[in-house]
Amino acid sequence: MQVIQVRADAPEANVIERAAGILRDGGLVAFPTETVYGLGANALDPDAVERIYAAKGRPGYNPLIVHVANREGARAVVSAWPRRAELLARAFWPGPLTMVLPKRGAVPDNVTAGLPSVAVRVPSHPVALALIAAAGVPLAAPSANRSTMVSPTTAQHVAASLGGAVDLILDGGPTTVGIESTVVDLTRARARVLRPGMISTPAIEAVIGPLDGGALATGDEEARPSPGMLDKHYSPRARLRLVNTADVDAVVKQERASGARVDVLALTPRDADGYAARLYDRLHAMDDAGVEVVIVERVPESAEWAGIRDRLERAARQ
Ligand code: TXA
Ligand code: MG
Repeated sequence: MQVIQVRADAPEANVIERAAGILRDGGLVAFPTETVYGLGANALDPDAVERIYAAKGRPGYNPLIVHVANREGARAVVSAWPRRAELLARAFWPGPLTMVLPKRGAVPDNVTAGLPSVAVRVPSHPVALALIAAAGVPLAAPSANRSTMVSPTTAQHVAASLGGAVDLILDGGPTTVGIESTVVDLTRARARVLRPGMISTPAIEAVIGPLDGGALATGDEEARPSPGMLDKHYSPRARLRLVNTADVDAVVKQERASGARVDVLALTPRDADGYAARLYDRLHAMDDAGVEVVIVERVPESAEWAGIRDRLERAARQ
């Protein structure tokens, strides 16, 4: 494994070309996106895609997101481009929105875990965009962490989680959005959010009208609309407890009494964007420090915090 620094705002062409060569040869390159670091492979090469699953220890039923450079790139991997896809692409791409649409035959089955649909997004990070353009192929890229663990927001997180399983890590510094993209399913009569993120439901509804707000099926893994929505996901090693602000001190005392190493994830900063940007780095740092119990001060119930609440609730479920 090799780590190469790259300028986040103006990636060096020789570095990008080197990474693109590895991708064209069927290798794995971890790269920054605006959300989290991705573990990229040529999405049209099933053997390369298989390496992603092996490196992550990811179950074969959990499909990958295909990253493309623009709307034309997206249309090349989907077999339908409804008007609402066009509207969402114009409103939110490049950016942290993933759309699930019917797939084209050229997309290998292991990218979509055998589903007739494919998840596609145009990231806004200059390194990601430069890499896709240089590789000349769409890039399948899940978050660059071992399956079920906390996603990486720095190159150091990637190296600690995947190490030798990746050929090259492009280090473009910390990511800015901080949690994974919003995933919206456009294969149904009424669109619905499969995974909340920092592009909120009201923001999407402002563009394409009301979404299906029904609760996603849980329980039986096979029955889930988004196979990756495992209950236990985004999990640090520490045990998480979500606690109301007024109860934090008492719960800390109670946990410390049992001799556990305890730390508090305070509700700071109080804006959702700032909180999301730092969340995973704080969780990684607590794991590194050997914290056993994280007391998480509950975050607001409003729509802009939905992606953050989702990750915290999943991390606490173990
Ligand atoms: O921000 C992100 O989305 C990051 C960066 C690297 O782009 N990627 C990411 O990928 O979070 P991953 O693999 O960790 O999560 C992909 C999610 C999973 O929940 C998966 O089940 C869902 O997208 N997904 C992928 N293809 C799907 C499909 N055809 N139908 C429904 N859900 C799909
Ligand atoms: Mg992931």
